[in-house]
Amino acid sequence: MIKLMNKKIIIANWKMNPNSLKLAEKLFTDIAKNISDAKSEIVICPPFLYLSKFKKMSHKIKLGAQNCSYEESGAFTGEISAEMLYDIGARYVILGHSERRSFGETNEDINKKIKTALSSGLIPILCIGEKERNENHEYFNIVKIQILECLNGVKKDFISKIIIAYEPIWSISTTPGRRDANGDDFYEMNVFIRKILSDKFGVKNKMPKIIYGGSVNPKNADEFLKEKNSDGVLVGNASLSSEKFLKIINITEGIS
Ligand code: PGA
Repeated sequence: MIKLMNKKIIIANWKMNPNSLKLAEKLFTDIAKNISDAKSEIVICPPFLYLSKFKKMSHKIKLGAQNCSYEESGAFTGEISAEMLYDIGARYVILGHSERRSFGETNEDINKKIKTALSSGLIPILCIGEKERNENHEYFNIVKIQILECLNGVKKDFISKIIIAYEPIWSISTTPGRRDANGDDFYEMNVFIRKILSDKFGVKNKMPKIIYGGSVNPKNADEFLKEKNSDGVLVGNASLSSEKFLKIINITEGIS
């Protein structure tokens, strides 16, 4: 049974880093040994290969994967199922990240993955966000379609268990010509996402966590975390430095 507590969540997305188990263990340990009893939920999403190694290394850090198959098992070469991830100790899974969407993953694929993840006991971290913003405010519609298609057919009771990460692609650290998002950008989208979820799924009083991602670092984290309805942050590049990630945890703890 999936249980989510009402506290802020800080998620590290290591992407395809670091390049050796030795370095990955060092990064994980440097973070784990410096976390006291945090009020926030701390989740590290390393590459699949490192999950089983980290399983018993810290009870203060939860583990997540960066993707899963929408198939349950069978002849799907190279794929990893949600059930395998749960079995190995993962409790979260990032789904629909823009980097995976850029390989051709569709809202329909993500929808199937969300359903498989939920039925295996994993908490999906659904990434949504527009490539760019223009004066026509078309980005609202893009985000709305992503939410409606990715969550299509998901039962109301499960909606509140999902984490929604708003990650505008234009603010992600590796996007060429990127620019900074600010607290207001997140605020307006957070209000918009809540309205869609409330209209479509009637979850007014049982909202899922809605968090911000895109170049979060120790200098800007509080701007996103202090926003009234912020439930946390998804951190890419800065989570590869134990020092920066721990600072973000401390900032979150000061706000929680
Ligand atoms: P970033 O990555 O923090 O390096 O911008 C965030 C993400 O892509 O999840």
